Amino acid sequence: PLSKGAYRTGYHFQPPMNWINDPNGPMYYKGIYHLFYQYNPEGAQWGNIVWAHSISLDLINWVPLQPAIYRSKPFDINGCWSGSATILPGNKPAILYTGIDPDNRQVQNLAIPKNLSDPFLREWLKPDYNPVINPGPGINATAFRDPTTAWMGSDGHWRVLLGSRKPGTLRGEAVLYRSRDFVKWVKAKHPLHSLRDTGMWECPDFFPVAVNGMKGLDTSENREGVKHVLKVSLDLTRSDHYTIGTYDAGKDRFVAENSSDDDSTGLRYDYGNFYASKTFFDPVERRRILWGWSNESDTPQDDTAKGWSGIQTIPRSIWLDVNGRQLVQWPIKELDALRGKGIHLYNTVVKSRSHDEIKGISSAQADVEISFDVPSLEKAEPFDPTWTDPQVLCGLKGAYVNGGVGPFGLLVLASADMEEKTAVFIRIFKASNKHVVLMCHDSSKSSARPELWKQSFGGFVDVDVEKGKKISLRSLIDNSVVESFGAGGKTCITSRVYPVNAIGAGAHLFAFNNGEQDVRIENLTAWEMKKPLMNGL
Ligand code: FRU
Repeated sequence: PLSKGAYRTGYHFQPPMNWINDPNGPMYYKGIYHLFYQYNPEGAQWGNIVWAHSISLDLINWVPLQPAIYRSKPFDINGCWSGSATILPGNKPAILYTGIDPDNRQVQNLAIPKNLSDPFLREWLKPDYNPVINPGPGINATAFRDPTTAWMGSDGHWRVLLGSRKPGTLRGEAVLYRSRDFVKWVKAKHPLHSLRDTGMWECPDFFPVAVNGMKGLDTSENREGVKHVLKVSLDLTRSDHYTIGTYDAGKDRFVAENSSDDDSTGLRYDYGNFYASKTFFDPVERRRILWGWSNESDTPQDDTAKGWSGIQTIPRSIWLDVNGRQLVQWPIKELDALRGKGIHLYNTVVKSRSHDEIKGISSAQADVEISFDVPSLEKAEPFDPTWTDPQVLCGLKGAYVNGGVGPFGLLVLASADMEEKTAVFIRIFKASNKHVVLMCHDSSKSSARPELWKQSFGGFVDVDVEKGKKISLRSLIDNSVVESFGAGGKTCITSRVYPVNAIGAGAHLFAFNNGEQDVRIENLTAWEMKKPLMNGL
């Protein structure tokens, strides 16, 4: 019989049991990091939603507290849905969240700490003047939720966004509200941004990024040398998309840089199973950190049997790429403290159509960094310009379809007989005027169980391979999750996989190359990952 316990993650954020979804209200307060999240206290399926609450000193080891916001008042009796924290002047945290009222309308509520001298912020008050924002005229009361962290304009007034959809249409919108005192909110005439045919925008996030350097900015910062990022979670496709642009503070409008009006694809933080993400500013390290939810891709019956569903991805530092065209992400450096036994390889050729086992560590729970040297691009397959969707291309040209330059990369969570394996790989094509780099997760052989959803995922990698002819991959492997970072975090993919044999000591790790061209591993380091304190387990 299948050991369901094998699918629990070792170092990804999880409560001991039950359903979780979106990360909520991440913040730093008086020496402590807080994470709240959507949680069903009663089971492994979505429902009865409250804000569960955990605290940490390093964003890796977590201690659980009692739920911070739970269904207790008319304005949230049917659910305490997603929202965000804002640190008000005088270092006073405030939470805005969506409550589901007795008529199943989505209303926005304010919660404030009962006792500011408690650094754990255990108890939250929900003043009786709630809701502070009601769905007014022109708003669909069942498509009006997930307030952002608020920011302050140069006029000293607060602004907040709500995810919505224009009634009677498929136009997604980020509705803007303003307030002087954080209690009385007035809807702006125009949404900050909207886009036709994109459907309901869930969990918007809006924040500044520095044009130069990797340092993060506090949410209200806006000056020369700053761009803004708007992220929305598309309910239609269940994927997070972001746009880089400029925020016109005078007009309170966001001008997107590189997306046309009919572009609903945009850029993605993660091309895999990653949704309802949210960033926060960490004032200690002056960095912006991204949290995302990774849902199960087994069956609801499996979740009931396991007694749990959903994890949060490893927190990632996030900054604007030097080219200004996209964001770059990297697991926070605190994660490195979990690295245990490691092995190192360098200058090893992975011959055409071959694979080599990477031995010496137990790899069901591991961190693998690898850099490849591609001696020549001559054998690159021609790129068909109709291949606009990288996920479709990864399905078409999976890990086991021989290529020219690539597919090469890692086989993770592989069984000894290699029947089960999840491929993390790169494939390089030759277009008319440049090379196109594709990164994929091929989960088609991830499990011997036929009934599972084994979707492959992919994204293009915006690197100039002609230049250095090098490309790196990092994979965080954790029992039922593989989180990969290509080219130093330019393209990221998260997959959930459920092997039957490649679990625990039965999990193996390989480097592979199904290209015609040999590739060289310049460097490979793989570490076993220790288990942090994880919510009492
Ligand atoms: C996104 C979402 C939010 C909502 C919450 C409910 O996953 O649907 O829009 O607030 O989850 O749990």
